[in-house]
Amino acid sequence: MTDCVSKIMFHTMSMCWQQVLGLTLMALITRCTVSCPPRCDCAPHIRSVLCHRKRLTAIPEGIPIETKVLDLSKNRLRCIGPGDLATFPLLEEVDLSENIITNLEPGAFSNLLNLRSLLLRGNQLKLIPAGVFSRLANLTRLDLSENKIVILLDLMFQDLRNLKQLEVGDNDLVYISQRAFSGLLGLDQLTIEKCNLTSISGESLSYLQNLATLRLRHLAISFLEEQNFRKLYNLKELEIDSWPLLETITPTTLYGLNLTYLSITSTNLSSVPSGAFRNLVYLQMLNLSYNPITTIESGSFRDLIRLQHLYMVNTLLSTIQPHAFLGLRQLRVLNISNNLLVTLEESALQTVGNLVVLRLDNNPLSCDCRLLWLVQKKIALSFDDNQPVCASPADIQGSRLQDFEDTALQDYFTCQKPKIRDRKPQRVTAGEGQTVYFTCRADGEPAPVIMWVSPQRRMITSRSSGRATILPGGTLEIRFVQVHDSGTHICIASNAGGNDTSFAVLTVKVQRSEGALFANMTGALLEFNETAFNDTQVFLKFTLDLKTILVSTAMGCITFMGVVLFCFLILFVWSRGRGHHKNNFSVEYSFRKVDGPTMSSGQGGARKFNMKMI
Ligand SMILES: *[C@@H]1O[C@H](CO)[C@@H](O)[C@H](O)[C@H]1NC(C)=O
Ligand SMILES: *[C@@H]1O[C@H](CO)[C@@H](O)[C@H](O)[C@H]1NC(C)=O
Ligand SMILES: *[C@@H]1O[C@H](CO)[C@@H](O)[C@H](O)[C@H]1NC(C)=O
Ligand SMILES: *[C@@H]1O[C@H](CO)[C@@H](O)[C@H](O)[C@H]1NC(C)=O
Ligand SMILES: *[C@@H]1O[C@H](CO)[C@@H](O)[C@H](O)[C@H]1NC(C)=O
Ligand SMILES: *[C@@H]1O[C@H](CO)[C@@H](O)[C@H](O)[C@H]1NC(C)=O
Ligand SMILES: *[C@@H]1O[C@H](CO)[C@@H](O)[C@H](O)[C@H]1NC(C)=O
Ligand SMILES: *[C@@H]1O[C@H](CO)[C@@H](O)[C@H](O)[C@H]1NC(C)=O
Ligand SMILES: *[C@@H]1O[C@H](CO)[C@@H](O)[C@H](O)[C@H]1NC(C)=O
Repeated sequence: MTDCVSKIMFHTMSMCWQQVLGLTLMALITRCTVSCPPRCDCAPHIRSVLCHRKRLTAIPEGIPIETKVLDLSKNRLRCIGPGDLATFPLLEEVDLSENIITNLEPGAFSNLLNLRSLLLRGNQLKLIPAGVFSRLANLTRLDLSENKIVILLDLMFQDLRNLKQLEVGDNDLVYISQRAFSGLLGLDQLTIEKCNLTSISGESLSYLQNLATLRLRHLAISFLEEQNFRKLYNLKELEIDSWPLLETITPTTLYGLNLTYLSITSTNLSSVPSGAFRNLVYLQMLNLSYNPITTIESGSFRDLIRLQHLYMVNTLLSTIQPHAFLGLRQLRVLNISNNLLVTLEESALQTVGNLVVLRLDNNPLSCDCRLLWLVQKKIALSFDDNQPVCASPADIQGSRLQDFEDTALQDYFTCQKPKIRDRKPQRVTAGEGQTVYFTCRADGEPAPVIMWVSPQRRMITSRSSGRATILPGGTLEIRFVQVHDSGTHICIASNAGGNDTSFAVLTVKVQRSEGALFANMTGALLEFNETAFNDTQVFLKFTLDLKTILVSTAMGCITFMGVVLFCFLILFVWSRGRGHHKNNFSVEYSFRKVDGPTMSSGQGGARKFNMKMI
């Protein structure tokens, strides 16, 4: 009975839709609401037909014509042809997810002018021909994720000017054509994930002028173009997640963006890309978790004046330099849990006056005088119910920061000032060009850092390169010593508890020999590394040294020529003495024939040179 009514209605609709009188239509509709395809669930009051997981291989018969919501997900549909949905012009939401659709024919949705949401997730689509989405000007959500689409063609979304949300993730995408996103003027959110794209061009993104959220996840992209997002004037949130091949973000990569949310996580970035943050003065939230960043350098975030949340969880962080968070005046939440931090010195957070939550748990913290400020401040700062725990010293290992009584703090959170072993001054006399060593061993808690100061007041640290370096253990090594290295070298051992010094006196003797000259030149060349010259200085210095080299080479030559001449003289005298005159040297060599006008010798073959000796 209901089937029959729907059939009649189908005919009426398709033949003379325009002519049917309003009243008759109303009457029919009220009767048709009873109709519902077998096995499906219909809710007439909201005009929905739900045929979820019904093993359907084709669009079922009996769908009421005025249906607005049609759910055909998890069935076995293979193909959507031009006429299949055309008879339901009032459709607003169509869910075709998780079928086995391989093919969408052009015009498959052409009649559905009211369509707002079209879900095609989890099918077998390889290619979407041009024209499939034409005229769907009311569509706001399109989900094409989990298909097998390889390429997004030019103009394929051309008519979707009201589309707000587009999902194309988890496809086999290898290429996004330059004009694929043309026409998507209303797009607000775009997610591209899990596909084989090796780049995402700034040109193709440039059409998305109203995009507010861009999520790019699980991609094998190893670089971003300069100004990759330049025309996304309205982008507020950018997420780059799980790009194992990405190692750098250059200062211009994010140029043109005015973001409030930025997340760059699970990549291979090894330092904070502070240059790229330069213009992000409206950024409120930054997530840099799961990157192999070991150090936060001073001033890394200084341009982020409105940042409120900073997350660097699981990043292998072991050092936070003084003033690392300089400029973050509005920071409220700092999450640096699950790292390798031994301490967090007050100087790092000095300028962060508004911090409310600090997550520092799961770090191998050393509870010494460097953390005293934090324990004393614990009332003002919240650890979000995750108390940091002491990993050392041994006697309070495992204690939580809040477990200490205020009166006991001075007993536990202490440092032991460095003390240099064997402090008597060392004296070494060396010849120019030699290598000298001065030891400096110090005890203290925490382990002291050793630094040397040269007679010229230059700092030598374990990171110095050049002739003077500090070996593990604090020993100063100076290679190719020069006369001007003579003087007193000072060792400074310092930790948070204080410092200790010792002295070492070097005397370099002048030695004028070829070896010393060579050492002097090598030393001069090595010195380039030590001092930061500007270009002019380097040039001057280099020409100077070139001169030295030339002169010494010339001097060497003269000596050599002298020796050769002397030999010849001996030979000559000797041969005279024996009275022979057969000193003809015959030198023969041939030119290889070269094609070209410049080498046109008459015979071209071998030439003979005779050289008579006196
Ligand atoms: C969008 O839908 C409304 C009704 O919801 C309709 O009036 C309008 O014509 C549709 N727009 C287009 C471009 O078809
Ligand atoms: C994409 O990459 C996956 C895994 O690396 C591979 O199995 C698949 O064949 C690739 N697809 C294309 C279209 O290259
Ligand atoms: C990440 O970078 C390091 C060097 O910085 C390199 O050794 C490693 O192979 C990189 N990892 C990947 C997945 O590319
Ligand atoms: C950047 O975004 C903020 C809010 O997110 C807005 O107030 C500001 O005007 C924007 N600046 C520019 C130059 O668009
Ligand atoms: C930061 O990124 C990580 C890794 O993607 C994620 O697990 C975490 O939830 C993010 N944190 C916030 C606050 O969004
Ligand atoms: C900080 O990171 C941890 C993961 O180490 C996470 O469980 C926690 O929710 C984060 N805390 C805040 C306040 O975001
Ligand atoms: C060594 O300690 C003194 C105070 O004890 C301090 O004035 C000085 O700056 C420290 N020097 C270094 C290099 O840490
Ligand atoms: C080479 O040695 C001489 C004499 O010892 C010295 O005056 C000169 O500065 C040295 N040159 C350099 C580059 O060290
Ligand atoms: C290089 O240094 C010299 C001397 O210190 C100075 O006169 C010159 O202006 C500097 N040049 C540049 C480009 O900084």
